[in-house]
Amino acid sequence: MQLDALKALATADRRIVDLFAKDATRAGSFSASTGDLLFDYSKTQIDEDVRAALLQLCEDAGLATRRDAMFAGKKINETEGRAALHTALRNLDGGPVDVDGQDVMPGVLDTLHRMRVFAEEVRGGAIAGARGSFTDVVNIGIGGSDLGPVMATHALAPYHDGPRVHYVSNVDGAHIADTLRPLDPARTLVIVASKTFTTIETMTNARTARAWMSEGGGDPSRQFAAVSSALDKTQAFGIPEAHVFGFADWVGGRYSVWGPVGLPVMIAVGSNAFDAFLRGGQAMDLHFRSADWVENMPVMLALVGIWHRQVLGRTSRAVLPYDQRLLRLPAYLQQLEMESNGKSVAMDGSSLAVPSGPVVWGEPGTNGQHAFYQLIHQGTDVIPCEFMVAADGHEPELTHHHRLLLANCLAQSEALMRGRSLDEARERMAEKGLDGDELDRQARHRVFPGNRPSTTLIYPKLTPFVLGQIIALYEHRVFVEGVLLGINSFDQWGVELGKELANSLGPVVDGVASADDKDGSTAALVAYALKHRNQE
Ligand code: F6P
Repeated sequence: MQLDALKALATADRRIVDLFAKDATRAGSFSASTGDLLFDYSKTQIDEDVRAALLQLCEDAGLATRRDAMFAGKKINETEGRAALHTALRNLDGGPVDVDGQDVMPGVLDTLHRMRVFAEEVRGGAIAGARGSFTDVVNIGIGGSDLGPVMATHALAPYHDGPRVHYVSNVDGAHIADTLRPLDPARTLVIVASKTFTTIETMTNARTARAWMSEGGGDPSRQFAAVSSALDKTQAFGIPEAHVFGFADWVGGRYSVWGPVGLPVMIAVGSNAFDAFLRGGQAMDLHFRSADWVENMPVMLALVGIWHRQVLGRTSRAVLPYDQRLLRLPAYLQQLEMESNGKSVAMDGSSLAVPSGPVVWGEPGTNGQHAFYQLIHQGTDVIPCEFMVAADGHEPELTHHHRLLLANCLAQSEALMRGRSLDEARERMAEKGLDGDELDRQARHRVFPGNRPSTTLIYPKLTPFVLGQIIALYEHRVFVEGVLLGINSFDQWGVELGKELANSLGPVVDGVASADDKDGSTAALVAYALKHRNQE
């Protein structure tokens, strides 16, 4: 990625407020919209020249060709020799998609149909537990087999009219113990979600759940379902074929919520609402495939990201949904963005010459305002913020809450941009009756540097369709950033080493193998754990 032209434009003295002073209509030209979604990036230092240079990166990287290759099912995940076709899962009426000369759509639509039938039968009670219809569903999975459905279940709470849905991911026994304790084993459906069906956390939790169910009068042979691309392994676990929902290896874990991994969401909100979610994703796909780059929301979101991270060197970005139901979106995006673009090797095996993707973090507003916004406003690091907010909430009787929420969201981006000068701070202190050195000292604590960039994504209301648009928007943003960086966004080799070492440490922490070949720190920590544990 050639950043020279952009680096030359990265002057610290370009103030966002001055860009607005020069062009009061800037919000119109530095924004992108599709359907009812509006993405405003005018509160950044991006001007016409910067944008032109950013757009040039798309041409230099052959973005259109790469995008078309992804949608066409080409094996763009080169290190694993796979296509990356999560878009096929929401290609409800988009025609054939070939992988290795074979149309994958009949299989996708058939599985979707089976999911719909299963979900509706669970919701209606036709598929039931040993002592009656299911009151609870427990999804056991981790990473992409957990974060997407967790996020979507929270997001779609107003549409949730099916059984209660719980998620267990952590191998920490506390997670499954606390989740299962209040449930009736004979009226609980357990879904084991694992693409590989080998993930140690998931398989350990699945076995624990199976034992809990058998001991409590449930029937695992009827009350378990599986979501996986390893059908031989689901069978070996004893899950009946009719309860197994497969997906192909061209769906990456963190891109999998659109297919069978979304089954708990479908059971919660029903197949119609889930369809609307898919339609939202499909609408964003169509936009991404057809809009000019400058009007293309995922592309512009990605270019803002490149500007902040690779050009200006901002090491993190905050995702700040002013939408309590998006409370798990930051965690979901952490996996999507950091597992995809946290790489230091380019596709051709060479070292990446520019920084990889940033640290992504966040919490819903307004909560964050009373916690970490202090640092965002006055800390020494600049943290680009991505605000999200709905024009309307789901609670007509609580519109005053929603107006406060919206006002706070808009106030934060305004405050970050405008800041407060020393003179303004001094005036305030003078009004409070201070003078001399004390006025000066107190005023300096009340200065806000301002010129801190943010973007805002605003949508009418958090419906299933809108959620689909937002998730697909971020998926494509990650894809575009990956193409511009020249990396493979679809593998995750960086998770392997820790897994291997955890396997080798298993017998050591069990006390049946020696820690002698471990480093001094690891050996000392093992010794401490063995000495202090009472349970066998
Ligand atoms: O360890 C990382 C990872 O492979 C993720 O990419 C994936 O989403 C998660 O583990 C779970 O994998 P699986 O669905 O195969 O259990």
